[in-house]
Amino acid sequence: MKKIAVLTSGGDAPGMNAAIRAVVRTAIYHGLEVCGVKRGYAGLINGDFIEMGLGSVADIIHRGGTILQTARCDEFRSPKGREKALENMHKKEIEALITIGGDGTFRGALELNKMGIPVVGIPGTIDNDIPCTDNSIGFDTVVNTVLDAINKIRDTATSHERVFVIEVMGRNSGEIALAAGLAGGAESLLLPEIELDLNMVAENVKRGMARGKRHSIILLAEGVAHSMEITEELSKLTGLDTRLSILGYIQRGGSPTALDRILASRMGAEAVKRILRGEKGIMMAVSGNEIKGIEFESIINRKKKLNYDDYRLASILSI
Ligand code: F6P
Repeated sequence: MKKIAVLTSGGDAPGMNAAIRAVVRTAIYHGLEVCGVKRGYAGLINGDFIEMGLGSVADIIHRGGTILQTARCDEFRSPKGREKALENMHKKEIEALITIGGDGTFRGALELNKMGIPVVGIPGTIDNDIPCTDNSIGFDTVVNTVLDAINKIRDTATSHERVFVIEVMGRNSGEIALAAGLAGGAESLLLPEIELDLNMVAENVKRGMARGKRHSIILLAEGVAHSMEITEELSKLTGLDTRLSILGYIQRGGSPTALDRILASRMGAEAVKRILRGEKGIMMAVSGNEIKGIEFESIINRKKKLNYDDYRLASILSI
């Protein structure tokens, strides 16, 4: 094998650049040439490639986002789009591909794999909604970003003795809200995986304030419901001054934490080694302290199981 390619796809995540850096430098260390693909699968279809050397990934380990840019690509869902991508890869003499992204990335990777291009995936999404891996790249950073926001909102909530609803990202997953809520000591967590009971939430808020709490912080994962409606309903049910803070896209940026940089570096390097060993159709996954390879088929169309023990723990510790 002489040349491989690497791309980032789906929503960007802090740590993607650390993964790109590890792929490029490990590949060059093992005598391979590396092509970067711009804008995810759209770049494969448009033939948007850049040759990458050691210097291409200098000084990026600490930067959020992705130097290759990313995009969601509907055209790649069509056989015609995939054929065009395959043709471009053959023209560039690309013999294998490493894809960094969320669950949609691996559906595309599986199709390419079936078309004869060895593909190894790396989980990169702040949502952490990919099964079979403890963490995806970007998750530790977004949890710390949300935690910083909770700490800041807690100050003003306490000063005004208010209830705050904080909306976080996660698409249809409650992973971000659960981890940041547990770490931040939030009073209530509203997650897509848990049946919504605003009457119970309101009772908890009133009970807490009655025993002397100076604030109540409610973390709402975006996939649950419209956050302004939730806020207005809670204000009516509690009779308390209730405000909403939507964190939005700051959750997607920021310098990756040490944990995310180490995870990205380990997964990027291991992905290259697996390709050199002739492996394909697998995603890098972290289990405990070990990096494993999980078949794409085991990832696709499966939902990551929420840690219900952590959910119960957060509820107990916030009484
Ligand atoms: O998948 C990452 C994510 O940030 C989700 O949490 C969020 O719902 C979505 O991307 C937003 O997508 P876009 O960047 O296309 O608005």
